[in-house]
Amino acid sequence: MKRLPIRARLTLAFAAAIGAVLAGGGFLLYHHLANSLDRTLDQSLRARSAGVAAIVRQGDPGLREAPPAPVADATGSFAQVLDSHGTIRDQSPGLRQQPLLTGPLLRRAQAKSLLIARAHRLGGDVRLLAIPLQPRNQKLVLVVGAPLRSRDQTLANLRSELLVGGPAALLLASLIGYLVAGAALRPVERMRTRAAAITEQHLSERLPVPSANDEIARLGATLNQMLARVERAVKRERSFVADASHELRAPLALVRTEVDLALDLPRSAEELQAALRSIGEEADRLSQLADDLLLLARLDEGEVPLRKEPLEVRDLLHDVAERFRRRADDDGRTIDVDAPRLAVEADRVRLEQALVNLVGNALRHGAGTIRLTASSEVDGVEIHVADEGAGFDNGVADTAFERFTRGDLARSSGGAGLGLAIVKAIVAAHNGRVALSTDIAHGADVVLTLPATPALPDLTRDQHGEIAGDSVADGSLVATKGKE
Ligand SMILES: Nc1ncnc2c1ncn2[C@@H]1O[C@H](COP(=O)(O)OP(=O)(O)O)[C@@H](O)[C@H]1O
Ligand SMILES: [Mg+2]
Repeated sequence: MKRLPIRARLTLAFAAAIGAVLAGGGFLLYHHLANSLDRTLDQSLRARSAGVAAIVRQGDPGLREAPPAPVADATGSFAQVLDSHGTIRDQSPGLRQQPLLTGPLLRRAQAKSLLIARAHRLGGDVRLLAIPLQPRNQKLVLVVGAPLRSRDQTLANLRSELLVGGPAALLLASLIGYLVAGAALRPVERMRTRAAAITEQHLSERLPVPSANDEIARLGATLNQMLARVERAVKRERSFVADASHELRAPLALVRTEVDLALDLPRSAEELQAALRSIGEEADRLSQLADDLLLLARLDEGEVPLRKEPLEVRDLLHDVAERFRRRADDDGRTIDVDAPRLAVEADRVRLEQALVNLVGNALRHGAGTIRLTASSEVDGVEIHVADEGAGFDNGVADTAFERFTRGDLARSSGGAGLGLAIVKAIVAAHNGRVALSTDIAHGADVVLTLPATPALPDLTRDQHGEIAGDSVADGSLVATKGKE
């Protein structure tokens, strides 16, 4: 059954239901008619017997002459009076000289009235009603009967009509069911054909959605939304690859130029050293870029294993601030940390990397004091990294967390625009959110929201000092440090 197409299955189920209804209905109809015919027959037999009994009781021997009652006439009924030996005392004209009841049946009829639903008499099937009569101390039995021919004929006609009409109705209903199922499933087939034609090159195509607001239309709309998401993802992937190769080309071209110049012209040792230094810087940029791209790709694939542990946010912010202290001092900037004791469940290395990217941005793109703050909010722990600079460029703010987004000023400064994308991916891997705070007059304020965990006991500082020591040795973190 499961292997059949839906259309055939629907039709079969429909046909089975209709078949059951028709069979049940036919059965009921037949029995209803049979019962009502029998009832009518019995009523007329009873009326006839009452009439004849009255005549017999009066001692009138004229049963032969008595005209049949009109009701009896319609059914062609007949009557016979028997004595206790089965001898015919009287009977309707035209009956054979043959008792209608004999033996045990006659004896039972002497005791009380007896209805014989079907008996073979007088060359056909008849229905008989026998009642005991005792006129003038005689023991007689009155038997009235009616042929069943017309009743049987009526039922036989109905039976053959049902046997012909039922299957015909069933066939017609099944055909209609088959057509309706086909019509209902046609949009599915249209969607399937179109879906089969949608390839990577034709991702902008959509499935035809029927105008009705039914399950199939909703399925089509949902699939189209999925196609839109796939299209966006593929587009993003393509532009990502294009951007990445563009980013790789620039430092490589610079290296190439430096090398060409160094080889072509006679150059002093200092000039050669400067060229090599420049080449070294470009190599650093390239490897930083490669690290960032690799990390993003692995975060995308969910391949970065997160070693989540309960972290004290205040300690974490102090650690990050400490790492930038020298650079901040050199630039004449300050880094403030203001956080109550709060805990989050996170991978220390990755979360620190995200914060390092943000503080690095605040130092590079922002100005003034950098504030690292944390607070407990309804939807989790919020960590803010804010500065007092000009804030995000208008053109950048909306897409700041997308790959390769960077402001005009930032273009010359060497960043590839992956820092915030990495922050977003790390925070997403922790089931958190990242956003630009909107409620500040000026300066940038990036907000990370992470799911909260119950606060930690106060022994965390030492442990974390140790873990932080480990994390500095981690390759990717060192790489990030190198970049900033
Ligand atoms: N603190 C900030 N103040 C102003 N602009 C910022 C700040 N942080 C980030 N930006 C803007 O967002 C862009 C993207 O940042 P990011 O993804 O870290 O890339 P990158 O630092 O490599 O340029 C930056 O180029 C800059 O224009
Ligand atoms: Mg950056």
